[in-house]
Amino acid sequence: MPAVVLVGAQWGDEGKGKATDLLGARVDYVVKFNGGNNAGHTVVVGEEKYALHLLPSGILTPGCTPVIGNGVVIDLEVLFRELTALDARGVDVSRLLVSSNAHVIPPYNRTMDKVTERFLGKRKLGTTGRGIGPTYADKMNRVGIRVQDLFDEHILAQKVEGALAQKNPLLVKIYNRRAVSVEETVEDLLSYAERIRPMLADTTLVLNQALDRGDTVLFEAGQATMLDVDHGTYPFVTSSSATAGGACTGSGVGPTRIDRVIGVAKAYATRVGEGPFPTELFDADGDRLRSVGGEYGTTTGRPRRCGWYDAVVARYASRVNGLTDLVITKLDVLTGLERVPVCVAYDVEGERCAEMPPTQTAFHHARPVYEEFDGWTEDISEARTFEDLPPAAQRYVLAIEEISGCRVSAVGVGPDREATIVRHDLLD
Ligand code: GDP
Ligand code: IMO
Ligand code: MG
Repeated sequence: MPAVVLVGAQWGDEGKGKATDLLGARVDYVVKFNGGNNAGHTVVVGEEKYALHLLPSGILTPGCTPVIGNGVVIDLEVLFRELTALDARGVDVSRLLVSSNAHVIPPYNRTMDKVTERFLGKRKLGTTGRGIGPTYADKMNRVGIRVQDLFDEHILAQKVEGALAQKNPLLVKIYNRRAVSVEETVEDLLSYAERIRPMLADTTLVLNQALDRGDTVLFEAGQATMLDVDHGTYPFVTSSSATAGGACTGSGVGPTRIDRVIGVAKAYATRVGEGPFPTELFDADGDRLRSVGGEYGTTTGRPRRCGWYDAVVARYASRVNGLTDLVITKLDVLTGLERVPVCVAYDVEGERCAEMPPTQTAFHHARPVYEEFDGWTEDISEARTFEDLPPAAQRYVLAIEEISGCRVSAVGVGPDREATIVRHDLLD
């Protein structure tokens, strides 16, 4: 099973990092194809806990080559900070490959992200403030800076000058900030050139050749389906293609080569930042999910909004990604609940809606219709086969599988690499 895409099926933080890490040892390449250091993937290996932002989770697996594809936006300072920190912990980071077509996040876009959010006030999106939106906007607007531009000082200066000709008037006249200097920006970007040079590769060629050889390539999405710029809850989304199609555009591997698409979803739901979230809980149950699940952002430390599992979202994710498998994580967090509700449809102004409402306004008004399942009290963190789970937990997983319209191939019962029940091999 050579080419496998792994995506978030909800609003992010589903445990994609752990799932990637789980497969790592059997994978030759792990490719990050979208987003940047807005992502936060926690991977627990034995006593060690890693928080990865920009680097693909596969970097923790010896022998696996991590790749940053053309679809990623790179904050160079963060890249080297993360590499240095991993190197200091004994992780071999020497195999990292970076696409020279990937865009860089110039320092001024971090500023733009923060000032626009502040300016929006109550209408803010709740971004991570990492400069992601402005950098993708520059890319589409054709005023972006690419990694390859760091090797042509003349072109780099021209491009920075062009971008700042648009941004400085905004910064000064609208946002009351100081103008950004072209020279300082160019100098800052150039200071990374020689360090990144050895990592550069024609990653599209490398990945296609790897697939020709029969190597296994895992494409790991940042963010998630409901944060995808096309398929998510626009405008409360990130600015990249976080769904399975993004794996192709963000890496230069054609759709005919993709064999499998794995969606990762929590056994409940969470969201960070603003935007609609039909099953959100504002009561003690929500607080319980947050405290038991440790639901605080890996990147910004913000408390995550928590709610019940939304099978309408899961069916939608299954459709827009063409999911072949679902990985359900954090089932252990539900232990101790008497009843576990699952949202099976929405009520939109008196009408039952079994699928995603066609407009954002309708989605904002969607009220969850719940079906309740029996809970369980037994500790499931040591379960390693499906049969080890108490009958009520088994029934819950089987119900999710049926209502979500996708087979559940693995179930997470704890943060550690080992704390996983595999029902169907994800790579075979
Ligand atoms: P990602 O962004 O999708 O990689 O997910 P995050 O790392 O941001 O958030 C997932 C959190 O859940 C991390 O703290 C993981 O260590 C943790 N986690 C992943 N799977 C499980 C699981 O099955 N059970 C529990 N209790 N925690 C898990
Ligand atoms: P991982 O990969 C959860 C959210 C932000 C905000 C919106 C836009 O760890 O699942 P951005 O900075 O991207 O312009 O912010 O998207 N967001 C995430 N939420 N997990 C993430 O990544 C996220 N990356 C961005 O909170 O609502
Ligand atoms: Mg995360």
